[in-house]
Amino acid sequence: MIKQRENFGSRAAVIMAMAGSAIGLGNIWRFPYMVGEYGGAAFIILYILCSFILVLPIFFAETIIGRRSRSNTFGAMRKLAPGTAWKWLGLLTIVSPIIILSYYSVVGGWSVEYLFKALTFDFTDTPPDQIQGFFGRFISATWRPIVAHTVFLAMVAGIILAGVKKGIEKFTKITMPILFVLVVIITIYSVSLPGASKGVEYLVKPDFSKISASTVAAAMGQAFFSLSLGVGTILTYASYVRKDENILASGVGTAVSDLLFAILAGFSIMPAVFAAGITPGAGPGLVFETLPFIFNKMGVAIPWISALVAILFFVTILVAALTSAISMMEVGVAYLTEEKGMKRLTATLAITAFAWVVGILCSLSFGPLSGVSLLGNSIFDFLDKLCSNWLLPAGGLLFTLFVGWKMSRADVKDEFTNGGTLKANTRLFGLIWFLLRFVAPVGIVAVFVTNLLL
Ligand code: TRP
Repeated sequence: MIKQRENFGSRAAVIMAMAGSAIGLGNIWRFPYMVGEYGGAAFIILYILCSFILVLPIFFAETIIGRRSRSNTFGAMRKLAPGTAWKWLGLLTIVSPIIILSYYSVVGGWSVEYLFKALTFDFTDTPPDQIQGFFGRFISATWRPIVAHTVFLAMVAGIILAGVKKGIEKFTKITMPILFVLVVIITIYSVSLPGASKGVEYLVKPDFSKISASTVAAAMGQAFFSLSLGVGTILTYASYVRKDENILASGVGTAVSDLLFAILAGFSIMPAVFAAGITPGAGPGLVFETLPFIFNKMGVAIPWISALVAILFFVTILVAALTSAISMMEVGVAYLTEEKGMKRLTATLAITAFAWVVGILCSLSFGPLSGVSLLGNSIFDFLDKLCSNWLLPAGGLLFTLFVGWKMSRADVKDEFTNGGTLKANTRLFGLIWFLLRFVAPVGIVAVFVTNLLL
């Protein structure tokens, strides 16, 4: 029986859903702490270069495969390259988003907890001298972060069960613009704090002596993570995109809005980091250590405005996290329902259960399990580095090799230019083809090799 596949309803819906997947904790939480850990402006420059030269071509590769096959990642390989080893790529890209989902959901849980704290006026009511330990107190309490993680994951599962159009599409269209406005407000406030100028300087004055092989790998990993690439998330979404959609425009639109959000988030957080005397290299807790400071300080001036901004802010961070997390879960759900004939409910529950258990270990690695070290990293950091710096680029590499070397040029061109009807895409195709075949694969391999050897 051939099931009718759902489609996104309009161009705006496609961009919003893809941008919704791309824009998330990767921008607001991960980007600022990576910048802090890897030395500021120099990292940002590398990140921008990686985004457009190495990672945007992968976006095109995934959308071309997804829309041409109209399948989940595994089915896509089966359809476009039947009977070949490419099916393993299909499988790899189903496993990695579920691992990412598990630790992503822990951080999603933090935003649930912070929303709760905002609703109960915790940020404004805590005396300023106690605000520093805010995050530390929360994270070392074993149960609370786990409960928060559970709540977050349950929300993700709920949206996935509602389906593509009513769930994903409706949700993202309303919330993304609100998030943008709020980040701008916080940025203005943060930059105006006393002592903020050091943070601004940190973001705009590059110190190239800080660049090493691991910085480049981290910048590339961040670019993959932030654009949701290398695991078939964008591929899966593209399989719901109509044939008259413009792949080039959606790609550039998504990449530019994603970048804009990351930079804005950097400017909203880093000045406040310096103003609060927090070290920029504080790691995954950075943003969550800084935000209480911002809202507390704002609250001294005008408590109710601060409380209101805090509430709105965490609602939208939560939403941004949800729109990304659903895109991770959808990859596995599409696979299990289409290839294994599972019901959507069963598939969703199976993935949720897995992510829940692994997520608990990640959550505990900030508290009771902080002594456990995997190759010198906590469980959380290990999984994040494994995925971002290795699995995503590896998946991305294979996707571009597939499009550039396995598919025929004519097919790729047909898909990229909508059968030659899009003039700009036709003109740019030579360049894109070159990026896909040579620049992206060579670049990714070069980063891998230097990272391994140096
Ligand atoms: N890009 C999202 C963010 O920035 C996270 C994300 C969604 C993701 N889907 C993904 C990351 C797939 C890696 C792979 O928050």
